[in-house]
Amino acid sequence: MMTVLRISMFIFLITVLVAFILMKIVRWYFFRTRRMRLLQDLNIPGPRPHFIFGHMKEYNSTPNVIWDSEMIDKYGPICGYYIGAKPVILIADPNLANQIRNFEERPRRVPGGINPDPMRAKMLGNLSVEKWKRLRAILNKSFSSNMIKSFTPTVARIVDQELMDAIRAQHSAEVNIYPLLQNFTFELISQTGFGVHANFSGNSDLRAAVEEEFSKNASNSWLTQLFLCFPDMTILQRIRIWHQWMKIKLGTSKSTELRNFCESVQQERLRSRSRSRDILQVMLDSEIQDDDEKVLANSILFYEAAFETLSAGLAFTIHLLTNNEQAQRIVRDEIRGHLQENEGRICADRISNLKYLDLVIKESLRMYPPQTTFISRSGERDLDYKNEDGQIHTIPKGVHLQICLYQMHHSSKFWDNPEMFRPDRHLDEQKHPDYDVVFQPFGKGKRRCIGYSYAKFVMPFVLATILSQYTFSQSPKTEETIEVLFKTATMTPKNGCFAEINFDPIAF
Ligand code: HEM
Repeated sequence: MMTVLRISMFIFLITVLVAFILMKIVRWYFFRTRRMRLLQDLNIPGPRPHFIFGHMKEYNSTPNVIWDSEMIDKYGPICGYYIGAKPVILIADPNLANQIRNFEERPRRVPGGINPDPMRAKMLGNLSVEKWKRLRAILNKSFSSNMIKSFTPTVARIVDQELMDAIRAQHSAEVNIYPLLQNFTFELISQTGFGVHANFSGNSDLRAAVEEEFSKNASNSWLTQLFLCFPDMTILQRIRIWHQWMKIKLGTSKSTELRNFCESVQQERLRSRSRSRDILQVMLDSEIQDDDEKVLANSILFYEAAFETLSAGLAFTIHLLTNNEQAQRIVRDEIRGHLQENEGRICADRISNLKYLDLVIKESLRMYPPQTTFISRSGERDLDYKNEDGQIHTIPKGVHLQICLYQMHHSSKFWDNPEMFRPDRHLDEQKHPDYDVVFQPFGKGKRRCIGYSYAKFVMPFVLATILSQYTFSQSPKTEETIEVLFKTATMTPKNGCFAEINFDPIAF
């Protein structure tokens, strides 16, 4: 009798357990089905997603910018897809892009970032809106016009010592200028922002660290992909974080080198009690001074953000000038006038007077915007939007919205012959009515690039200094159209940037 009772009890418990598991599976199934229909229900066109992977397989097998372009070509300027279970809406429609420009939340394609080091969660670009607002207000002080002005003598010195010296050592030969610009840019941010000489050109570990960070990609990690397919399994996120933490502790992640470098710079500043007028000091004098990790995270962010974008932006511009003799001649004529007016110096205060150079830089940033997929937003409320065809789209709160700046920069709807280098198209009289939205290499709205004024000063200053002394002409390895490498959020020259550099100082 007892045995029969025990068996019945056992069967009952098993039945309850199986029923419970089945219920969970059915609930998950319905929830998942709803989730994978979200874009369709919202009238956002796109390919049909796989129930588990979304479009991850196709997305991983194509460079991200190319994938986005193919989507927009096929489904129109507002369309969507899924990375695993995460919906992403692509926006290459100027009106909608304009409407969401002041949304403040920046979602990440991979929640927690591709590198889930918890320290990186404290970076400006990764904070939740309230925390971002506070930190952005502090960090904005690092890029005020007074601050940029105070950087001027340092910038002039570094251009001369780090860049012009390197060019002098190699000129009259075929030179790959891209690595020289990378060395220079790292040194520039190091000395203007942190007051230290980094010896980047002689430190291959540091270079490897920065390069590794930018080559990271969700498709390199099966754990990240699994997490993207099952974002509700927060245990996977914890394992990712733990895995990254172990790599840092065991020293198997190359990116630790940059972290160690920034940590030593910070410790040295605190130990010596010296003060400087730079980005590090702004952070150390602010309310975040007691949060060592936040100062460290944002130091790393500035090194990375400035290094990748400025060096690529300068290299792409030099590539275009190398292949466009006439534009180079006009820029040099303009520089001659500038030298005549300023006692033979490139005058930082008057750098914005070099109008044609400004058009050339804009055109370079249009054709080759160094940041490609970083302009993302999500809203705090649903937004109903009617497109040109009268179709209503509901842009749901919280969903990842990506402004497709590369695609807008290259669309024949907004630019005549978009693949041609034509600096004049940025003249007021030739601009498209939506110019302010369809051209946004630094983003728009409240989350626009914090380094905008720094880059706006550094790029023309560096180019004018080099071009006042040297000319660039095509060499055997000069590519007619430079091959680019699309990384997770940036694009850089794939094979470098080759030119013959000749010493030809401008007579004035
Ligand atoms: C040619 C140079 C540069 C380009 C093309 C560029 C481009 C961009 C873009 C497109 C964004 C996203 C803006 C948005 O979402 O609306 C961004 C954000 C950002 N950039 Fe830049 N950038 C450049 C230089 C720099 C420099 C020199 C620094 C630092 C010294 C910097 C630091 C940042 C940071 C920290 C953010 C995140 C801002 C936030 O979330 O509040 N960038 N940049």
